[in-house]
Amino acid sequence: MELTVAITGASGSIYARRTLELLAGCNAVETINLIMSGTAATVAQLELGVNLKEPDMSKINAWLDLEPESRKVRLWRLDNFAAKPSSGSNKQAGMIVVPCSMGTLGAIASGAGTNLIHRAADVCLKERRKLVLVPRETPYNAIHLENMLKLTHAGATILPASPGFYHRPRSIDELVEHLCFRILDQFDLPHSKKTQWTGDEVAE
Ligand SMILES: Cc1cc2nc3c(=O)[nH]c(=O)nc-3n(C[C@H](O)[C@H](O)[C@H](O)COP(=O)(O)O)c2cc1C
Repeated sequence: MELTVAITGASGSIYARRTLELLAGCNAVETINLIMSGTAATVAQLELGVNLKEPDMSKINAWLDLEPESRKVRLWRLDNFAAKPSSGSNKQAGMIVVPCSMGTLGAIASGAGTNLIHRAADVCLKERRKLVLVPRETPYNAIHLENMLKLTHAGATILPASPGFYHRPRSIDELVEHLCFRILDQFDLPHSKKTQWTGDEVAE
């Protein structure tokens, strides 16, 4: 499977990192096209203390703890409209925007995108491929909510960065991972299922 992952400048870089780590560790995933907005690096610096400014493959592989020569993740420049995910003729399973800022959400909803993240998302919608958006903002205003409804009508899946607590997370990592598992579920990708609800958790 090939898919695209975009990271934008909403809070929650940790969701992006864990999602990428899980995807990179998944045998079913051959190629991950990665696109980062400019603000994504600023937020990652603030939240994770990592320097992803002017990202290149060596920075990305080191960040994700991948072998330096690993080619599983392929980084595309934000202004490269000739990049692979920019064309519908490139067969891929779909795209995840994690975390998704309200700015990117609005640009995709308007259909008037100006960068490769917007274009790749637009391609997914027009090709009827899976587009999973993981918005992070609180509270939402009417424009945010209308954009989410519009995108849902256009075929996108809105999967908010609102982690569950019913699996009793003991750490931030467990909290984050639960949400990332839900993202993988959207593509039927295998994971440890540690947090999958079985119904055995409650007395009858
Ligand atoms: C530390 C930090 C946290 C931010 N958190 C959010 C957020 O949670 N949601 C959001 O929509 N924007 C957030 N922003 C603002 C966006 O980064 C800003 O709107 C930016 O223009 C989004 O551009 P992008 O979608 O191209 O990354 C945050 C910015 C910073 C610096």
